[in-house]
Amino acid sequence: MNILILGSGGREHAITWKLAQSARQLSLFVAPGNPGTSSLAVNLRVDPLDFQGVRAAIVANNINMVVVGPETPLAEGIADFIENDPALSGVAVIGPCRDGAMLEGSKDFAKAFMMRHSIPTAAYATFTPDTVDDAIRFMSGLKPPYVLKADGLAAGKGVLIINDFDEAVTELRAMLGGRLGAAGSKVVIEEYLTGIEMSAFVITDGISYRVLPEAKDYKRIGEGDTGKNTGGMGAVSPVPFAKPSFLAKVEDSIIRPTVEGLRAEGIDYRGFIFFGLMNVNGDPFVIEYNARLGDPESEVILPRIGSDLYELLDGVARRDLASRNLVISQETAVTVMMVSGGYPDSYGKGFAITGTEKAGESILFHSGTGTADGHLVTSGGRVLAVTSKGKTMEEALAKSYSSIREISFNGMNYRRDIGFDLKNYKE
Ligand code: AMP
Ligand code: GLY
Repeated sequence: MNILILGSGGREHAITWKLAQSARQLSLFVAPGNPGTSSLAVNLRVDPLDFQGVRAAIVANNINMVVVGPETPLAEGIADFIENDPALSGVAVIGPCRDGAMLEGSKDFAKAFMMRHSIPTAAYATFTPDTVDDAIRFMSGLKPPYVLKADGLAAGKGVLIINDFDEAVTELRAMLGGRLGAAGSKVVIEEYLTGIEMSAFVITDGISYRVLPEAKDYKRIGEGDTGKNTGGMGAVSPVPFAKPSFLAKVEDSIIRPTVEGLRAEGIDYRGFIFFGLMNVNGDPFVIEYNARLGDPESEVILPRIGSDLYELLDGVARRDLASRNLVISQETAVTVMMVSGGYPDSYGKGFAITGTEKAGESILFHSGTGTADGHLVTSGGRVLAVTSKGKTMEEALAKSYSSIREISFNGMNYRRDIGFDLKNYKE
């Protein structure tokens, strides 16, 4: 069985790492991958957005299954492209077609879908450049802070939360005026929800679904959740406040209606669904859907899966997911992201990374690394996800921070407070 994983970050390294442990004889390829995946798989110099290049790689390497890591190839229709090509018939894709990827690719679609299926989410309305005046009137009826969301994919820059009404109006006009290009040609304005966030994940074959471990990520650059948004500075799984009664509500009011709603609408969704949730006084609301696994959430979710990940992927491909084994470890997994100095603004690249061989208590998932003259160097904002497991969150965090003390690169930065808001949580 030859499997091609598309992507180049910590998420794709974690998927590759987990598949490398399969009891099946798997040959793993990653496009384009990174120095971390190169020790487990064959890295191919192919851009996941170059569909013809992906096609050539599938043919050349007799690929049987493609696992799509990031959202952009999904939104651009990589699954449709593969499934509609007669020369690629029989190649399974783990990741939805373009219609399913709309759950992430269009906030307006996602909100309207949730309304159709009575899935709890913040009240909202959608506006276009022709309805700016209506948008301002709608906003004046809401309490601050104002939540503005560009409809399309905007690489993490599409959501604004603004306290001041006049500033919100200015930002709304800029979004609808084209600041984010086509992604902002529609804007969703929604009610602000107060609560604590967490994320739930499922894998589905379009008929049934299996619930994967939940996680909480830390998006802000600064300690105490301050400063700019990033791709994610760390994550923890399980989430202490996600007690069985809360997770049962998530499954009953959100997960099941989502999978059943997709099916009822004729969307044949095969892949992962990532539910960004807000726990509002014990009740879950959907903040956003993603049509893929998260990064850095994958770096804590996948290490908690005790069974063979390939069995789940094969269950999606063969549509018998319900009969597949899924074992989730009771241990806590944490990941702390080591980032380049300056990130999420501009930062230098190409700095030598030393000490990784001394981080033995942790798993290092590569995110933005490269090689120069055979040595590991930095090549992105998020550099290494340092994952550890423990009986408690504190034990796992102590291992990750002790590993981080061994690792060094010019300008390195990381948050010293991952899990800070969960530490004093008592049942
Ligand atoms: P998103 O890109 O949709 O995940 O939004 C980015 C972040 O904005 C989320 O992780 C939340 O922290 C916050 N957010 C989005 N929508 C809301 C909302 N309706 N109420 C409160 N916070 C929100
Ligand atoms: N960590 C958030 C994401 O993957 O979108």
